[in-house]
Amino acid sequence: MKVAVVTGSGGLIGSESVVFFAGHFDHVVGIDNNQREYFFGSDGDVSRNIERLKNSLPNYSHYDLDIRNLQGLEKIFLQYGNDISLIVHAAAQPSHDWAAKEPLTDFSINAVATQYMLELTRKHCDKAVFIFTSTNKVYGDKPNQLPLVELESRWEIQSNHPYFKNGIDEQLSIDQSVHSVFGASKVAADIMVQEYGKYFGMNTVVFRGGCLTGPRHSGAKLHGFLSYLMKCAVNETPYTVFGYKGKQVRDNIHSADLIQMFWQYYQNPKQGEVYNAGGGRFANCSMLEAIQWCEKITGKKMIYSYSQTNRVGDHIWYISDLSKFKAHYPDWHWQYNLEKTLIEIFDNITI
Ligand SMILES: NC(=O)c1ccc[n+]([C@@H]2O[C@H](COP(=O)([O-])OP(=O)(O)OC[C@H]3O[C@@H](n4cnc5c(N)ncnc54)[C@H](O)[C@@H]3O)[C@@H](O)[C@H]2O)c1
Repeated sequence: MKVAVVTGSGGLIGSESVVFFAGHFDHVVGIDNNQREYFFGSDGDVSRNIERLKNSLPNYSHYDLDIRNLQGLEKIFLQYGNDISLIVHAAAQPSHDWAAKEPLTDFSINAVATQYMLELTRKHCDKAVFIFTSTNKVYGDKPNQLPLVELESRWEIQSNHPYFKNGIDEQLSIDQSVHSVFGASKVAADIMVQEYGKYFGMNTVVFRGGCLTGPRHSGAKLHGFLSYLMKCAVNETPYTVFGYKGKQVRDNIHSADLIQMFWQYYQNPKQGEVYNAGGGRFANCSMLEAIQWCEKITGKKMIYSYSQTNRVGDHIWYISDLSKFKAHYPDWHWQYNLEKTLIEIFDNITI
């Protein structure tokens, strides 16, 4: 029997992973205690996603378990043992603003529980592929030191810089910058995941996400950029833009495209690898451009205000370079541009 284990199975990446891998594995085990509701209130409630998985997938088992519960986790690993051939570890405290409220909670989930997952994998199913969703925040605010120019609706990197063509690659230092508490806890986990690949020879991989998005995101003020923005646009809820004249740029990847990256890696794993994962030059926008997109799709003017103060450590311009992943896995390509993604998010809110 082939089993996949997905942590954070009620979340954006976890729930999409469950649906996809249920079609390729005999059984999928999901772990999620709806901690997202604790972080972000009712906007973050993922119980609807969890119920949908339980009701629609006969080969899915759900565990309402906190990943900080080592004994509870070990029971699951003991039950499925070497049948586990894939672990998608997507449970996390995902917001850099929230992390400053409870740094200990943030570290215990993002760093300590990631090592629980790694160690249990090593102990019970060491041949399994272990996929970890890291973040571009591991680069701290280093990207803000790049030579940027101000354009009408966005910041852009100077056209003679090597990052202009494809974006930021995995060579950028993750050291000696401001990461936010969240970025720092993810660095700890990111390095440990690499280490289990490079030191123990396990099939571990790190995907450093730009903005991950899609209709299954339970978008909240502090996390889930495009999903929350579109919610505000549809419901005419006031939105606040923080700093950088609203011209800060993010690249956005649809969860389905990211999961296709996971699938490519699963079929041909390279131990301890690190890949940047985002929309790259193919799908990116500034805050102002995202607002314009939402207005175009909803047909409504957005109500938003501007605050001069940027979020601590926030990127001014970040576009992921996926060249390394594409060189290793040439069959992969983005399927979702920004417009297609935003229309799906809109449809999911309004249906
Ligand atoms: N969404 C993004 O823009 C983005 C960007 C970069 C990296 N990432 C990373 O990708 C991963 C997935 O992100 P997402 O957007 O799907 O997040 P999400 O919040 O939608 O999903 C995470 C899930 O984990 C669950 N969870 C959190 N703590 C838990 C705990 N202690 N025990 C059990 N379950 C717990 C939550 O309830 C939630 O359902 C995270 O590691 C995140 O840091 C996300």
